[in-house]
Amino acid sequence: MKDSVKDNKSGNVRKMFKSISGRYDLLNTLITFGRDKSWRKYVIQEASLKQNALILDVGTGTGGILQEALFLNRNIKAFGIDFTLEMMLAGKEGEGRISWCCADALNLPFPDAVFDAVTSGYLIRNVTDIRRSFTEQVRTVKPGGRVVCLETSPPPSNFLRPFILLHLKLIIPVLGLIFAGNKNAYRYLSETTETFKTPEELSLIMRDAGLKDIKFKRFMFETITVLSGVRP
Ligand SMILES: C[S@@+](CC[C@H](N)C(=O)[O-])C[C@H]1O[C@@H](n2cnc3c(N)ncnc32)[C@H](O)[C@@H]1O
Repeated sequence: MKDSVKDNKSGNVRKMFKSISGRYDLLNTLITFGRDKSWRKYVIQEASLKQNALILDVGTGTGGILQEALFLNRNIKAFGIDFTLEMMLAGKEGEGRISWCCADALNLPFPDAVFDAVTSGYLIRNVTDIRRSFTEQVRTVKPGGRVVCLETSPPPSNFLRPFILLHLKLIIPVLGLIFAGNKNAYRYLSETTETFKTPEELSLIMRDAGLKDIKFKRFMFETITVLSGVRP
């Protein structure tokens, strides 16, 4: 992708999340029928955090993954980075124990090998360079630490496909219009999900970025995937 196209994509992504920041959590709950919390919980289980662990959540948004991490493990230190300040401000109202940082997922402002686990939720679909984003996550996690990624996946080719497409293409944008006043942001979610990489393809990119023992688990009729890998 050319640099100007990449800059344009990043700028549009930031603008879009800024516009829905106040309603992001509500919409997430509505469009996932309240299941989003359980997937974040699974992300934290996969991160295998020990006492006093340091966790970094990249593209943290309102900090949902870190809030789950802090709920499940009280003695950890949680860091969240995102390039949309408004998303973090929306989350900040509800959580005082997270260290927030406004930065780009493609250039993490941390030294090598400092975190016990690095997580992300619905970030990878939005970045201009997936491999680089994972390479940065691998760089900042300690050897033996886990990188865990929660992401949407294209609908499966089975009898459920028409129903999933109806949900993606019609119901989600209409809910976005009614509850966030922004149909386009939720149309973007549908379009990028439908055309995004399969878990198998993402696993290969994670392997190329330097991870081993990569595995994934699917949820919600295979439209949600949690992938994880270990830094050797
Ligand atoms: C769909 S939201 C996910 C929020 C949260 N992780 C969750 O689980 O609900 C995606 C977030 O990634 C952020 N993001 C996208 N590209 C980014 C980048 N290159 N660097 C930092 N943040 C980015 C957006 O600003 C947005 O807050």
